Amino acid sequence: MNERIRALKPYPMVELARRKRDLLERGVDVLDFGTGDPVEPTPEFIRGAFRRALPEVSQYPTIQGQSALRAAFAAWYDRRFGVHIDPERECIPTRGSKEAVFHLPLVLVDPSEQKRGVVYPVPGYPVMEIGSLYAGADTFEFKLDASNDYCMDPAQVPTDVLRDARIVWLNYPHNPTGQDLPEHLWRAWCDARREHGFVLCSDECYVDLWFGDKPRSLLEFDREGCLVFHSLSKRSGMTGYRSGMVAGDAELIGLYQESRAGFGQAMPVPTQEASREAWSDDVHAEERRRVFGDKRAVISEGLRARGIEVLAATSTFYVWAAVPEGDTDESYAARLLDVGIVVSPGSFFGPGNEGWFRLALVPSVDGCKQAIERWV
Ligand SMILES: Cc1ncc(COP(=O)(O)O)c(C=O)c1O
Repeated sequence: MNERIRALKPYPMVELARRKRDLLERGVDVLDFGTGDPVEPTPEFIRGAFRRALPEVSQYPTIQGQSALRAAFAAWYDRRFGVHIDPERECIPTRGSKEAVFHLPLVLVDPSEQKRGVVYPVPGYPVMEIGSLYAGADTFEFKLDASNDYCMDPAQVPTDVLRDARIVWLNYPHNPTGQDLPEHLWRAWCDARREHGFVLCSDECYVDLWFGDKPRSLLEFDREGCLVFHSLSKRSGMTGYRSGMVAGDAELIGLYQESRAGFGQAMPVPTQEASREAWSDDVHAEERRRVFGDKRAVISEGLRARGIEVLAATSTFYVWAAVPEGDTDESYAARLLDVGIVVSPGSFFGPGNEGWFRLALVPSVDGCKQAIERWV
């Protein structure tokens, strides 16, 4: 086995699924705030589009997908950010953003070159590290905490790391803390990219789940050497469909498209049709924001009333909360499991986060209220 991969811990969400199974087998009524996989139904107009597109004859879909899908994405991007994307040259569909985040370093990183670094946030989405390790990259963890307001700032990265970086990952709105990046730091990263020549990648899969100011997108600030990663999983309740989109620098998109032909990650046509409908509608996304906002209010206020510190957040459906004194993240998660509540220990999101735990706002508003009643 590849030695670099052997050193990786098991994928955290697999462990959560195992814990949940154990509880269910013991007959416990489980409130699952573990994996970020919401239970609100996918809107009927999206499901209908999928059903109608089931073909009589099944044939391979193409990597670039249908132009109508790309046009619908570009139209959404224009409505949402006021930025024009050329649907023919500047975006390609992906099977959700996870595989796209994973595969990108395989295309861009040459392990025999000095410039083979990948910079990513910790705490953060584990796939940024995993994809980098498979690609043979050098990794640099940008530690986010209260001292930097959970904001990545190029001024805090050593110059030699920026010089040797091939990819820098931003993820705002940020999983797991729900923070956004202020405008001056978007601009600072674009300046750093121009100076050091890395590819600046922005994972924006939570950009439509906001409760304060509307989150921004990287392409509002620059395009050359920049890629944004979008997803319908959270925006439209489509985690099971596997639908995302990468957009940005036309040369990079062309390169990625060419390489992806070998990855076997083309989007099936019924998913394309459902996705086209989803990108074309904003009303359902607004309704989802309202639902997650209600849940966030119940959980944040309830936890605070119980003396637990909750990080104030402006977006995502995650709540990042501090482990009470006397516990570690693992021991606290285990105590919550005893009362049927599943949360993610902070260390699932990288080293140094043992003082925190994450709730994904998956159970209904009533489920959130029940959880607060049971809380330990
Ligand atoms: C930061 C981040 N990026 C990407 C993903 C993957 O999302 P998708 O369902 O689009 O693959 C997730 C999922 O939780 C995430 O938190």
